[in-house]
Amino acid sequence: MKRMCWLLPCLMYGLSGPVLAEDVPAAVQNDCVRCHGLDGIAKQPAMPHLNGQLDSYLLASMKRLQKGKLPTEVANHVPAALPESELAAIARYYQAVKATRPVQETDPEKVARGEVVFRNRCNDCHGDFGREADKDAPLMAGQDLQHLLKQIRLFVSGKRKFGFLQDDAFKGQSLEDLDAVAHFFASQDPVAPAPVSNSGKKKQRR
Ligand code: HEC
Ligand code: HEC
Repeated sequence: MKRMCWLLPCLMYGLSGPVLAEDVPAAVQNDCVRCHGLDGIAKQPAMPHLNGQLDSYLLASMKRLQKGKLPTEVANHVPAALPESELAAIARYYQAVKATRPVQETDPEKVARGEVVFRNRCNDCHGDFGREADKDAPLMAGQDLQHLLKQIRLFVSGKRKFGFLQDDAFKGQSLEDLDAVAHFFASQDPVAPAPVSNSGKKKQRR
């Protein structure tokens, strides 16, 4: 359910507790909010939701955006002038936001096909149905579908560098299979308990 409200305190409804405007990092209020919202929910398709995202992933991604090492279509996406302390505050802020990611339309056939690929290829790092955000791997469950499809193409074309050992998982996979995993991730609830057990044990990756 989406509440509509126009006053700033009201916009904070998705945060974990009462949050004052001065707790929101200045860069978020002045800049990021245009696209990522105060609640981390993307304003348009093909933009990622940042709420609940692992803070170390957010921080690493922001630093890469600053240095031009993560492909982006946004000019001056994360301004170079923002010091690391501010980036860390932004990362902590968005990780803490508990807003609900909007339910998206996904193709049930692709979701089913994607789940098979996910279990064989992606589960090691994007475990618990994409909810297990790990040291390096981000939260994937409920991520914007168009954003995921776009990032997959960037990985496949080599324009975006793979994460740790991730290239092995992509090797030999058709674009149809990889797209299907995007539908699978996009269809998952980022917080609910998994509907079926996926072996239960926590993976120790490195
Ligand atoms: C004009 C819209 C826009 C603004 C403003 C914007 N972003 Fe983004 N952001 C995007 C889009 C679109 C992407 C997807 C990658 C791309 O094309 O840049 C993205 C991706 C990201 C990512 C990568 C997340 C992931 O899951 O891969 C991070 C982190 C991020 N933005 C942080 C920020 C921060 C911090 C600010 C404010 C300083 C900001 N963005 C401002 C549109 C925007
Ligand atoms: C060995 C670990 C590993 C495996 C297996 C793996 N990934 Fe990843 N994935 C990562 C890491 C690490 C990142 C973060 C990369 C970065 O920091 O840019 C990532 C990021 C991503 C992203 C970008 C998300 C975003 O918001 O920008 C997508 C899409 C993705 N993975 C898809 C997949 C798919 C599909 C599979 C299975 C075919 C897969 N990954 C398997 C480790 C893995």
